[in-house]
Amino acid sequence: MTEQLVESVEQLSTDDVRAVEEVLVLDFGGQYSQLIARRIRECGVFAELLPSTASVEEIRERGPKALVLSGGPASVYEDGAPEFPTQLLDLDIPLLGICYGMQAMALALGGRVESAEAGEFGRTDLVLRDGGGRLLGGLPEEQTCWMSHRDAVFEAPNGFTPLASSPSSPVAAYELPDRGLYGIQFHPEVVHTPYGTEILTRFLRDVAGCEQQWSPQSVIAEQVEKIQTQVGEGRVICGLSGGVDSSVAALLVHKAVGDRLTCIYVDHGMMRLNESEQVVETFSQFGIPLVHVQAEERFLAKLKGVDEPERKRKIIGEEFIRVFEDEASKLEDIGYLVQGTLYSDVIESGGSDHAATIKSHHNVGGLPEDFDFELVEPLRMLFKDEVRAVGAELGLPERMVWRQPFPGPGLAIRIVGGEVNKERLDILRAADAVLQEEIRAAELYRQLWQSFCVLPVVRSVGVQGDGRTYAYPIVIRAVTSDDAMTADWARLPYDLLERVSNRIINEIRDVNRVALDISSKPPATIEWE
Ligand code: XMP
Repeated sequence: MTEQLVESVEQLSTDDVRAVEEVLVLDFGGQYSQLIARRIRECGVFAELLPSTASVEEIRERGPKALVLSGGPASVYEDGAPEFPTQLLDLDIPLLGICYGMQAMALALGGRVESAEAGEFGRTDLVLRDGGGRLLGGLPEEQTCWMSHRDAVFEAPNGFTPLASSPSSPVAAYELPDRGLYGIQFHPEVVHTPYGTEILTRFLRDVAGCEQQWSPQSVIAEQVEKIQTQVGEGRVICGLSGGVDSSVAALLVHKAVGDRLTCIYVDHGMMRLNESEQVVETFSQFGIPLVHVQAEERFLAKLKGVDEPERKRKIIGEEFIRVFEDEASKLEDIGYLVQGTLYSDVIESGGSDHAATIKSHHNVGGLPEDFDFELVEPLRMLFKDEVRAVGAELGLPERMVWRQPFPGPGLAIRIVGGEVNKERLDILRAADAVLQEEIRAAELYRQLWQSFCVLPVVRSVGVQGDGRTYAYPIVIRAVTSDDAMTADWARLPYDLLERVSNRIINEIRDVNRVALDISSKPPATIEWE
């Protein structure tokens, strides 16, 4: 999906257009609300989420080209269920209700919504009625779609044309084109609705008249201007983690303010093989001033004798702040600090300004709270997929654009049940490098949310050559996931596993066993620690 986005956005206009048009998604609390906004952006139109309680004045001020009303968990007849704000009709812009949004609109405008005998969850057959109208006309008479509802529209409001039905939804889509009002019971944003993107595109392009203005190029042009306005002649620092977010944020700021940005990369000695070199090389290629702090010894000294995972995290986090502070204090006149806050962080924190704080908890120990810097957050409006697309557009190497998530405390939390020291880190780093190499060679890297090795600090007996060994096991952990909240263990091919196992045991002296973790999350977590 992410690859598709990069491809589809790359096909868009390369003009340096700015995203002036916007579609707002009113969020009624549905599980797919963010996905709706992402899909609209994939169609080349900028979309943002607003809570369904947003006032009509607020919406009017933002001047959207169209509104999409999301799904939601409530039944329209429940006490306190959010209602369709009929003042939205005064805005005189196209509205598309999806699932709950469709039902709420139908109810408010005089349609009949009732609880169906059976709900519809998952893949559902959809049959068009009378040709499918403006929204669905020309699509196959019979198709599948993704549903997730119990209530259904039994009669469309007066004047509306019913466009489709499904086994439990007599009116699974309706429209009143003269007023620009549309509703669909199914979810066009979910990949299991094969014509979903086509339907969204019709609404955006044909009904709302949106142009395809949103692209990585437009994001870059807009952000560069915004950063220049915010920072003026000021100086900026950015902490790099080696991950895609901080790298893309730094590249954007560099494009805006040039050498007035200095990046700080703290190498705590717990990165994967060659990762630090990649960061240094990439940023030097871009000519971005970079302070590379080699702090491995400093971190390892602090971690000596520490077994307990939370202590490890805390020590690394605190030390990170200290090193960062030391380096930042050597730079003069810094007024701004770059943070890689993403749109999902902003939404999760209720769209408020607390997002930066939340993000810092996810990072290595965060950054000092008493820093007197103004934050620069160039990724605040972007989903992760879009950050990758912007990174690719800015020339960030493919390896960094597609890097799997990596915890801030790095390999330290993957050495389990014992102290983190140089010897163990080197073993784990070498094993991890083999796994990464083989997974990339098998072209599976992008399909996996994460793939890594774990070193449990236990030794067991083995036999190698003519002698007995007493060495560590390595555990392979590879998962698929959409958001790390849940994950499934990846069914890696046996021949790949065999190659990885053989290589790890042959190439790394202190390892005599390789095991595979086949637990999902929940009940396990992705990381071991
Ligand atoms: P778990 O192990 O809780 O991990 O299933 C969920 C996701 O979070 C990542 N993770 C971290 N990321 N700093 C980070 O930036 C951390 O301290 C940290 N700990 C876990 C983990 O890799 C997975 O993607």
